[in-house]
Amino acid sequence: MADDLFFFTKDVFLIKAPKKSPLVLRMIVLVFAMVCGVYICSICLKQVSTRNKVGYLNLQVIEKPCQEPNIESLETPLVHYPKPKNYSRAECACNPVRYFAILSMQRSGSGWFETLLNNHTNISSNGEVFSVKVRRSNISTIVETLDRIYNLDWFSSASKNECTAAVGLKWMLNQGLMQHHKEIVKYFESRGVTAIFLFRRNLLRRMISVLANSYDREVKLLNGTHKSHVHSPLEADILAKYKPTVNATLLIPNLKQVEETTTKALEYFKSTRHMIVYYEDVVKNRTKLTDVQDFLKVPRMELKSRQVKIHKGSLSNLVENWDDIQKALTGTPFESFLHADYRRR
Ligand SMILES: *[C@@H]1O[C@H](CO)[C@@H](O)[C@H](O)[C@H]1NC(C)=O
Ligand SMILES: *[C@@H]1O[C@H](CO)[C@@H](O)[C@H](O)[C@H]1NC(C)=O
Ligand SMILES: *[C@@H]1O[C@H](CO)[C@@H](O)[C@H](O)[C@H]1NC(C)=O
Ligand SMILES: *[C@@H]1O[C@H](CO)[C@@H](O)[C@H](O)[C@H]1NC(C)=O
Ligand SMILES: *[C@@H]1O[C@H](CO)[C@@H](O)[C@H](O)[C@H]1NC(C)=O
Ligand SMILES: *[C@@H]1O[C@H](CO)[C@@H](O)[C@H](O)[C@H]1NC(C)=O
Ligand SMILES: *[C@@H]1O[C@H](CO)[C@@H](O)[C@H](O)[C@H]1NC(C)=O
Repeated sequence: MADDLFFFTKDVFLIKAPKKSPLVLRMIVLVFAMVCGVYICSICLKQVSTRNKVGYLNLQVIEKPCQEPNIESLETPLVHYPKPKNYSRAECACNPVRYFAILSMQRSGSGWFETLLNNHTNISSNGEVFSVKVRRSNISTIVETLDRIYNLDWFSSASKNECTAAVGLKWMLNQGLMQHHKEIVKYFESRGVTAIFLFRRNLLRRMISVLANSYDREVKLLNGTHKSHVHSPLEADILAKYKPTVNATLLIPNLKQVEETTTKALEYFKSTRHMIVYYEDVVKNRTKLTDVQDFLKVPRMELKSRQVKIHKGSLSNLVENWDDIQKALTGTPFESFLHADYRRR
């Protein structure tokens, strides 16, 4: 191609100025081609060098903008410096952020637990994000949602944005978590997400809470509004007036199934950095929350929640058919659920 072009120009010159010496013409063409070549080369070199320089600067800026000298290298994969899409982290841009997920089951105290965590200035737990079905319709939508949360691009009443040091969500085992566990574990590992398992020891109390909550979803005892969590003793008393009847035949199979699900979840996520918290332990000893704060590596603070417990006191007063339940559980591994009692506040 280059040769063709060269001959073509030569021909043109030859036709237009047939009387001039062919040697001079050839020299002119040659010099012209050389000048052009040098010019093109110099432009190319300039572009290459600027691109290199820019790429190098970008790497510096994106990868390690704020390396903290006091973080051990083991910890580095767990520490992030997100860059939210539509705002700047301002004075906290160099504060490291950790990612977490509270993995739990309905009516295990996770709502209360989450309000306690969100009382911390530097913790944003964005609620039960995956209770919305489309967000968990497949692994791509799950990953997309998680990416937004962990990049601090998720806006909820809990998000504190700029100065968040730990960001996460509450995720129920039956909200796609068990179904897509393989991909989710991989995501947690690659992004450095840690898990806080929140379980309830007394699964019988949990069951009663599940029954009462689903009853209220239909009947809406509080002035026609369904509430899963309440903020006043009056509301708690109104909700606690309803005493569910537990199906004694299904009781043991149900309790077993919950236990199995719990065991399976722990097995699936055993390679994820995690801690296990029992609701009853936090109720009995609020200083358990310092363990959680240490786990999330946030400064220790006293945490408060405005939520009021709905079902208080002795179990026998909370259900319609206490005798049946007692009969069904006595002499089984679940017998202790009948006696355990505790108080909150
Ligand atoms: C970012 O977008 C969200 C949702 O669109 C909005 O609520 C928030 O105010 C925006 N933040 C800024 C700093 O613009
Ligand atoms: C934590 O709770 C206390 C008492 O309810 C409240 O005054 C404070 O504003 C809360 N802090 C945050 C960050 O929510
Ligand atoms: C995942 O679900 C979303 C929303 O339901 C849908 O738009 C998308 O096509 C699905 N993607 C795959 C790979 O199935
Ligand atoms: C916690 O938030 C406060 C502002 O609310 C900020 O000054 C502080 O640096 C944050 N701490 C961490 C560890 O991010
Ligand atoms: C129900 O509504 C009445 C009247 O608006 C109010 O006085 C009462 O406190 C409400 N009860 C609850 C439990 O919200
Ligand atoms: C308990 O559940 C079983 C299976 O669903 C049902 O056959 C039985 O009638 C129920 N018993 C009561 C007392 O509701
Ligand atoms: C409460 O929990 C903390 C931290 O887990 C522990 O050190 C302390 O001994 C506990 N206190 C009681 C009274 O059990």
